[in-house]
Amino acid sequence: MSDSRPICDYEGSTYRIDFWGGGSREYEDRVERIALRRLLPPGGSRILEVGAGFGRLTGELAAFDQVVLVDYSRSMLREARERLGDDRRYLYVAADVYKLPFAPGAFDAATMIRVIHHLADPVAALKEIRRTMVPGATFVLEFASKRHIKAILRYWLGRQDWNPFSREPVEFAPLNFDFHPDYIKEALVKVGFKPIRRLTVSHFRHPLLKRLIPLRLLVWADSLAQLTGDWWQLTPSVFIASRAVNGDRPPDVIPEDVLFRCPECGGQLEREAEGLACVGCGRRWIIRDGIHDFKESA
Ligand SMILES: C[S@@+](CC[C@H](N)C(=O)[O-])C[C@H]1O[C@@H](n2cnc3c(N)ncnc32)[C@H](O)[C@@H]1O
Repeated sequence: MSDSRPICDYEGSTYRIDFWGGGSREYEDRVERIALRRLLPPGGSRILEVGAGFGRLTGELAAFDQVVLVDYSRSMLREARERLGDDRRYLYVAADVYKLPFAPGAFDAATMIRVIHHLADPVAALKEIRRTMVPGATFVLEFASKRHIKAILRYWLGRQDWNPFSREPVEFAPLNFDFHPDYIKEALVKVGFKPIRRLTVSHFRHPLLKRLIPLRLLVWADSLAQLTGDWWQLTPSVFIASRAVNGDRPPDVIPEDVLFRCPECGGQLEREAEGLACVGCGRRWIIRDGIHDFKESA
């Protein structure tokens, strides 16, 4: 369903336990939450969380009336639903970021955290996200930066062949990319966003520092250092908030019954017994276990 674009598929993965379990990344989790809180608007009607995973950060979006969690992996969404519950404020949607099943201008905010580093065509994904956002909406993006202190030192010492200062993304492992901060800024502008603020995150991501310095102190120091993000970016993770520009803002929020669109043809969808049917191409999209499934038509 993603045409020729490869996807880093988390289906069935034990990401939550393997990556976030055991507490060794509590520092990263805490500083990411701080950055997200700083960049999100105080509230709104509907927010899109792209690549929501198991819903680690979804609680930070609680000030919105509705939160739409999108992920390519059904198993991640099932985990998110188990954690967050069947609250009507949450909509769980299995879909590909390159083909989002939503009407244009459906969201007044969006986030994409720890996802773009898996995308082989980041500009196409950003363009698709922009399409679903209303002019004036806020988009908070986290990306893995190639121009961080460790990469610079490794490069200068001859231990790394790629140049952390060059603009092009580096694929350091299959479907794992690091980006130059200027590349991301340019990509956002290209698709209709105006970058407004950057925060640098995880300044002290080093096993020794994490072992020697109390977590609270490390988090406090990072939260201060984040504020230099508009001046220089030398951390492995950068958060950037942008505003959707161009176009007219519709007077009203798009109602939920016309929120979804066919990801294949963009046609309107009509509710039927087991899900939604496209009035344009006739494809049927199932709702199963509380998850709207737009990965494959029935
Ligand atoms: C590293 S996890 C991050 C999850 C969450 N944002 C977090 O920070 O905990 C990346 C997530 O992106 C999802 N993903 C990767 N490629 C995707 C695509 N093309 N469309 C939608 N989701 C995708 C994966 O399934 C996975 O759940």
